[in-house]
Amino acid sequence: MDLPARITVVEVGPRDGLQNEPGTVATEVKVGFIERLAATGLGVVEATSFVSPRWVPQLADAAEVLAALTRRSGVRYPVLVPNERGLDRALEAGVDEVAVFGAASEGFSQANLGRSIDASLEMFAPVVRRATDAGVRVRGYVSTVCGCPFQGEVPVDDVRRVTAALIDLGCMEVSLGDTIGVGTPAQVQDLVTAVAADVPIDRLAVHCHDTYGQGLANTLAAFEAGVTVADASAGGLGGCPYAPGATGNLATEDLVYALDGAGVETGVDLDALIDVSAWMEQQLGRPSPSRVVRATIAKRAQSEGTTSG
Ligand code: HMG
Ligand code: MG
Repeated sequence: MDLPARITVVEVGPRDGLQNEPGTVATEVKVGFIERLAATGLGVVEATSFVSPRWVPQLADAAEVLAALTRRSGVRYPVLVPNERGLDRALEAGVDEVAVFGAASEGFSQANLGRSIDASLEMFAPVVRRATDAGVRVRGYVSTVCGCPFQGEVPVDDVRRVTAALIDLGCMEVSLGDTIGVGTPAQVQDLVTAVAADVPIDRLAVHCHDTYGQGLANTLAAFEAGVTVADASAGGLGGCPYAPGATGNLATEDLVYALDGAGVETGVDLDALIDVSAWMEQQLGRPSPSRVVRATIAKRAQSEGTTSG
């Protein structure tokens, strides 16, 4: 395979994962999760969202999470902010990076942000400007790039338009989100190639939910097209409360396992990461859907049985 020598993994489990939990996860568990993840060598850990607590009550404690967090030097901790209110809260909490999040389809934009695509871009403009002025890096997301839960197919030109608009606003990087995990590798490769006609490829990332089991293949297909940044979620946690049918992201363990096998550098210690997901399984009271986590935990139990027996 023709893969880049090094990939930046953006860990989104504490945000994309925990925003979708049916119950509320205790603040100290969230903080423990983020700190454990950052200790595995991940360079970027998306920590939480400063969105309306009416919309996402699971992350209503964003300020408390950041106040309690011991940040490691060299690790970035982006947070989602939809509007200036979110930015004010995030700046007050001392964040180093924020992310605005738009969509390529009107139905999802309405469901997720309560406004049209163009109105959401208007909402983001002062957020990006003020964050940049404050020296805070801004990332952008475009959701529903491979399909929308409301309209089905999403034209590639719509993804191109929103991605270019976010870059024009001043986003340093745009992550292309297959929110409901319906994309396939050839589709993702064609999409990335099309978007890269307008935007430098080193400013693109991919964010593949694994709903149809395509997350890893889709992410690798994007790497073959020249992308070097990918979002993933420890243990495969995740989903979006406003995207019917969306399940977890590509598990970070599945991604790192594949990249380790190809000799691609990520800086992440896979065994340490699996330890974190094993700990998180206990906190959430259910097993991780990641095949790499499941296989490794089973193997560890087997070898412990052999040693003790
Ligand atoms: P709205 O209802 O249009 O805004 O929501 P509003 O101005 O009418 O405010 C509603 C209430 O929220 C008001 O409070 C505001 O003060 C408050 P009330 O007067 O009713 O007591 N409010 C806020 N409070 C705290 N922080 C804020 C904030 N903003 C308003 N920032 C809004 C508009 C954008 C705020 C809302 O639609 C929202 O929060 N949406 C976020 C939804 C969300 O977080 N979705 C999940 C993340 S996106 C995702 O998962 C996809 C991604 O992973 C990529 C992929 O997979 O494709 C990124
Ligand atoms: Mg997502």
